[in-house]
Amino acid sequence: MDDTFDGKVALITGAGSGIGRAVALRLVADGAQVVGVDIAADGLAEVAEVAGERFTAHPADLSDPAACRAAVTACVELHGRLDVLGNIAGVAASHHVADVTPEQYRRMMAVNADAPFFLSQAALPHLLATGGNIVNLASNAGLMGQAYTVPYCMSKGAAVQLTRALAMEFVKTDLRVNAIAPAGVDTPLVRSFSIPDGVDLDLMQPYMGHRGMARVEELADLFAFVASDRARSIHGAVLSVDNGITAG
Ligand SMILES: NC(=O)c1ccc[n+]([C@@H]2O[C@H](COP(=O)([O-])OP(=O)(O)OC[C@H]3O[C@@H](n4cnc5c(N)ncnc54)[C@H](O)[C@@H]3O)[C@@H](O)[C@H]2O)c1
Repeated sequence: MDDTFDGKVALITGAGSGIGRAVALRLVADGAQVVGVDIAADGLAEVAEVAGERFTAHPADLSDPAACRAAVTACVELHGRLDVLGNIAGVAASHHVADVTPEQYRRMMAVNADAPFFLSQAALPHLLATGGNIVNLASNAGLMGQAYTVPYCMSKGAAVQLTRALAMEFVKTDLRVNAIAPAGVDTPLVRSFSIPDGVDLDLMQPYMGHRGMARVEELADLFAFVASDRARSIHGAVLSVDNGITAG
């Protein structure tokens, strides 16, 4: 599409599906070398076929902090630098809060909250060296209370606060840290989302919205802008792409 990311290296998690896939393909099209990380090796293989030689697949389960550090190390060993970290991998589920098991709770936090922390921690020295940036995929669920998704809301609140706290700690450097907070985006995650029996649909209406879902390409467009040097004054921002859901 253009040469915005010529000579730059991006590590994109969740690159095997949905928003992460669209972001990875967009950055490759704009000139970046992209290392895509995902637990789904088959998804990564499909993206590699479409993306061509500027995309490298790195299958890993990011719920393990050691796997997060290893992914950053592998990327820097391969390309010698890191300019953009996109923390996009995530899981979502809906439950009555009473039914959430410790294993379900821990998995949600490990993937959605812990992994972006450990990936960011490992990437920081490299991003500081290049004047790079981090973009976290948060959610409207990190900015408002949603019924029947307590652990998901907690984990996305963590993504919002990871963004703001890192932004402040590094405010005197060139590093930028931002978040994108979508509501509904048409992806496999949403298509496979199931609602438990016995919910009060009135309580879910405020986060269903009135304007339908966004497309992954819209998220990739915004990501490509925020991660580029054109967004040099956007730092510590949580950018909503939610069709008005958090407006009122
Ligand atoms: N789709 C939406 O409506 C929506 C709304 C708000 C926020 N988000 C967020 O956007 C991000 C991307 O979601 P999506 O809709 O594209 O979903 P998706 O399911 O299409 O993609 C998520 C990817 O994360 C990967 N992943 C899951 N667990 C992993 C793990 N342990 N290690 C490595 N990779 C793992 C999956 O394999 C998958 O490829 C998520 O963080 C999600 O919470 C999505």
